[in-house]
Amino acid sequence: MQLRGLILSGGSGTRLRPLTYTSAKQLVPVANKPVLFYGIEAMVAAGIEDISIIISPQTGDEIRSVAGDGAQWGVRIHYVVQDEPLGLAHAVLTAEASLESQPFAMYLGDNLLRDGIASFADRFRETRPEALILLQHVPNPSQYGVAELEDGRVVRLTEKPAEPKSDLALVGVYMFQPSIFDACRAIEPSPRGELEIADAIQTLIDRGLAVEPHIVTGWWKDTGQWADMMEANRLVLDAVERSVEGEVHDSHVEGRVVLSPGARLERCRVRGPVAIGAGAVVRDAYIGPYTAIGPGCHIDHCEIENSIILEGSIVADLDVRLEGSLIGRNVRVRRTQSKPKAYRLLVGDNSEIKIP
Ligand code: TTP
Repeated sequence: MQLRGLILSGGSGTRLRPLTYTSAKQLVPVANKPVLFYGIEAMVAAGIEDISIIISPQTGDEIRSVAGDGAQWGVRIHYVVQDEPLGLAHAVLTAEASLESQPFAMYLGDNLLRDGIASFADRFRETRPEALILLQHVPNPSQYGVAELEDGRVVRLTEKPAEPKSDLALVGVYMFQPSIFDACRAIEPSPRGELEIADAIQTLIDRGLAVEPHIVTGWWKDTGQWADMMEANRLVLDAVERSVEGEVHDSHVEGRVVLSPGARLERCRVRGPVAIGAGAVVRDAYIGPYTAIGPGCHIDHCEIENSIILEGSIVADLDVRLEGSLIGRNVRVRRTQSKPKAYRLLVGDNSEIKIP
């Protein structure tokens, strides 16, 4: 069975503001690689050759210019604009023509699965259920779509239930036969005004069609919120292999550190797992575990741990360690000598600053 791919990279990303005022949340890097690329690579590894990507009018151009036509992965990428984020089932309907009514794997563009999707795609090709859904036990099911199983079969799916009947959350990866399009047409918007994919899958169940559940055991992260993004960064960095290609001068580089070509360390101690992007310059600094420093950053006279710093930012002359921080693009954080001695902040909406 030829499987197509659908990646959902529209949406409004309100929970990841302020980063999402200026950029798509699917392009926020995890270990210096956009989240979206992990989804594309998971599809490529599952043998999928045609991938439709849902984009929004606001951030679509940026996604197009970063992911391109798919040639960098040897696949074809087709873009589909969803005018408004009216729900995951609405996104499926928007992509119907692009998917040419073929069976497809759907992947939420801000999700990350440690083990990818190849084994689930193989299973779907083999057993050909109407839908195959992935589930994971979670401590806080009311924040997710929740599945109830009976004798190993899915009997009910509920989107963000106040009183969940199980702790099995819907992971953001699904496999569908073309019957899902009709099911998406059959449902009404939910109380939050969205066409919910959980309701569309429930329609398949109500029609007596086979919906096969699989429990995901490797880690899964939805990076839609700040804390999850930080956690995803830690999980991915935990698996990186040491690769020191940049320049190292008078520095100690310990453990699993990725120093990209063109990056430069001078008089530093870097303790992995850490990723430092191309062209970044780091001087007289300590960079501790679980830190990703983006391309072109300048880091000078400071200590940073467990943080993500995006492309082109400057962090300099701090006398307190920067820790657990997510810093956007082209941000400048630095100590100045000018009087009066005061905090001088120029900070966008919905930012958060914690000062000891
Ligand atoms: P969500 O994280 O559920 O929605 P969102 O992006 O609007 O975020 P927030 O709630 O913080 O405002 O979406 C999951 C993924 O699906 C994400 O990659 C965006 C994408 N998506 C679409 O492509 N179209 C849609 O209509 C919706 C709701 C989401």
